[in-house]
Amino acid sequence: MNKTVICPGSFDPVTLGHLDVITRASKMFGKVYVAVLVNSSKQPCFSIEERMELLNDAVRGLPNVEIVSFDGLLAPYCKELGVDAIVKGLRAVSDFEYEFQMAIANKKLNPDLETIFLTADSDSMYLSSSMVKEIGSMGGDISNFVPECVHDRIVERLKSR
Ligand code: PNS
Repeated sequence: MNKTVICPGSFDPVTLGHLDVITRASKMFGKVYVAVLVNSSKQPCFSIEERMELLNDAVRGLPNVEIVSFDGLLAPYCKELGVDAIVKGLRAVSDFEYEFQMAIANKKLNPDLETIFLTADSDSMYLSSSMVKEIGSMGGDISNFVPECVHDRIVERLKSR
């Protein structure tokens, strides 16, 4: 489909769950922006440069995916990029209320902007960046949770936390 979509998030750091949603979106749409939020109420562990670098390496095999960063509101940024829809992964019922609220708010701010939810695959249902940070910083094995090509860098970085 020749549409442009955006996968926004904190990506602190990228997980296999994120990569699954990005990969599936890249097969369905012409262009996929992966937009990393610069500032959020959450204090990120990885800097914006680190998060973008890890993502760039993780999506290297996907030619229609571009990593960008944004600060402030997502809806006007989508207008600026000519984005047709936001694509988000939905892991569990617990994600739904927050995601639903954001989808409605974004639609109010930019009525042309749709939000599309992809259900997480069974391996990613439980997965989150917070879990990766907690397990990794305590020396646990995160190889089932993050893309192989960025695994060592994430491990090293979490050790120095
Ligand atoms: O990975 P996250 O932290 O769940 O991603 C949340 C994100 C970045 C998608 C969301 O916080 C966001 O869009 N922030 C930008 C601010 C904004 O547009 N807020 C209005 C929507 S309620």
